[in-house]
Amino acid sequence: MATKKDSKTECWIVTGGAGFIGSNFVRMVRRQKRARVVTFDRLTYAGNLANLDDLKKDPDHIFVQGDIRDRKAVADLFSRYHPTGIYHFAAESHVDRSIESPEAFIETNVTGTFVLLDESLRYLRNHGAERNFRFLHVSTDEVYGSLLPTDPPFTEKTPYAPNSPYAASKAASDHLARAYVHTYGLPLVTTNCSNNYGPWQFPEKLIPTVILAAIEERPIPVYGDGLNIRDWIFVEDHCEGVIAAFDRGQTGETYALGAGNPRTNREVVSAILEVLDRIHPSPDGSSYNRLVTSVPDRPGHDRRYEIDAAKARKELSWKPGHTFAQALEKTVRWYLDHTAWWSDLRARYDGSRQGTGRKIKSGAS
Ligand SMILES: NC(=O)c1ccc[n+]([C@@H]2O[C@H](COP(=O)([O-])OP(=O)(O)OC[C@H]3O[C@@H](n4cnc5c(N)ncnc54)[C@H](O)[C@@H]3O)[C@@H](O)[C@H]2O)c1
Repeated sequence: MATKKDSKTECWIVTGGAGFIGSNFVRMVRRQKRARVVTFDRLTYAGNLANLDDLKKDPDHIFVQGDIRDRKAVADLFSRYHPTGIYHFAAESHVDRSIESPEAFIETNVTGTFVLLDESLRYLRNHGAERNFRFLHVSTDEVYGSLLPTDPPFTEKTPYAPNSPYAASKAASDHLARAYVHTYGLPLVTTNCSNNYGPWQFPEKLIPTVILAAIEERPIPVYGDGLNIRDWIFVEDHCEGVIAAFDRGQTGETYALGAGNPRTNREVVSAILEVLDRIHPSPDGSSYNRLVTSVPDRPGHDRRYEIDAAKARKELSWKPGHTFAQALEKTVRWYLDHTAWWSDLRARYDGSRQGTGRKIKSGAS
């Protein structure tokens, strides 16, 4: 296991480091000088180099554009940078897109993960004795399916029951990761985290969708009755959990990460609008609540996710450092202060899905 963390001895590859969570992760690692970082990202619609603008002059951050399905590109990455770890965030991540076009999810989330696992193994076999190396596989609580109102929260022992093509592709990647530990001894740890929110999240996800619709005085879409429950965690708390799992997790173990903030979509929307009413009131002084509009539900929409993170808290000595109220306000303020970032993204990507030209349905959760 890698133990000593500093920029001189550690070099981490971060796949998907130009996306929402990955870019927050890379920034945190560089701010804390934990390791030299090589960000490897295909720059799909969800990847954005602007997310890493503040690291442009950092000599210990390198960006490489590439596809995790491309075996040669991945092999070159290993032989060029000799990493001490890989954090695998790259994925197709949006449930609604997976319902419309599942193929990309299988290709990136399953085949891409397979290539990374296999090339990691080859790298270790070639350099094993001299190498301190770990693979951190980043996954989601969606692999566990949907809870009934009376069910206890998910734990690492909850049977897999993925319901969307996105969740199924992530579940498949988790199984491959597990197989590479048990069959080949790859030193790997998996984390399964709940819904993230925070700065740099692509505007198609629930929280940015609500903020942007409100400040532009557009209808705020909420799926169905709005009573679907998600367990929200601030992105920086997730990133700290992932590093704790890399540092202190047991090889082959999985760790469920969550902040203990289960809320219905309606509660989340109301909390955002309460912040906006206070810090960015509507020009006519009326509450943004008047804009909330119910839209037809997502097919197969999971009703409830909730995480019991007791194992991670105990074994990783990790706990979330932010309250929902504080971090939500921080997030709302970030979107208000970064209009150029999201306007530019929307100008480039509104109206199309993965280049198919299909219309984006807003109101994603
Ligand atoms: N967002 C959440 O709430 C959440 C919760 C739990 C787990 N996760 C997991 O965390 C990871 C990151 O999620 P996110 O919300 O930041 O996603 P995101 O969609 O914002 O970012 C994904 C990144 O991966 C890159 N990418 C996609 N396909 C690629 C490929 N073939 N090769 C290289 N790069 C590729 C994209 O360009 C993008 O930068 C995912 O694995 C996701 O399943 C997300």
